[in-house]
Amino acid sequence: MDNFNWFLLISRWIHILSAITAVGGAAYVRFALLPAATSTLNDDVHERLREAIRLRWMKILHACIALLLITGGLNFWILAVPPKIHPLPYHPIFGVKLLAAIAVFWIAIGLSSRSQAFAKMHASRKKWLNILLTLAAAIVLISGILSQVRAHDPGMHSAAASTIQ
Ligand code: HEM
Repeated sequence: MDNFNWFLLISRWIHILSAITAVGGAAYVRFALLPAATSTLNDDVHERLREAIRLRWMKILHACIALLLITGGLNFWILAVPPKIHPLPYHPIFGVKLLAAIAVFWIAIGLSSRSQAFAKMHASRKKWLNILLTLAAAIVLISGILSQVRAHDPGMHSAAASTIQ
């Protein structure tokens, strides 16, 4: 227990809670709210409901994105900056995760924005929610791979030491 890192535990906890909240919200919209509202509400009522939800959800979504970026950066700094770890293969895999996460944030912000710049995205919400959820599932898998890669990494110091021996 000498190396028990409370800071890392709290950071990882907030990271995973933020991911659950943001991705869970998107899954609920895709599989329950959107189909139910489309089949039961007329366009006017649906639009008013969407706006009322948007005003509330935007704040939570922005907080989740900020927390994911902050805690993700902290996790990376604590766990994955050399010499704690060999850059290969961890860093390229992390790069793929980061790009996928940026794409997820962009879709989530686009879907919950009122800007005309996202009009095409708004016209096919179901498709973009499917893309967002597929990317999010891939990100959780990649995160697990990163954890395993790190667990099997001897660390640069010990690797250098074993080369010298
Ligand atoms: C949609 C966005 C994201 C999701 C769903 C997500 C999910 C996760 C999950 C589930 C873990 C725990 C993996 C495990 O221990 O098995 C994790 C770890 C981690 N995440 Fe994220 N994350 C996201 C965004 C980010 C971002 C933006 C960053 C960087 C700025 C980041 C950096 C990290 C790091 C460094 C770890 C530790 C990986 C390791 O164990 O070596 N994540 N993430």
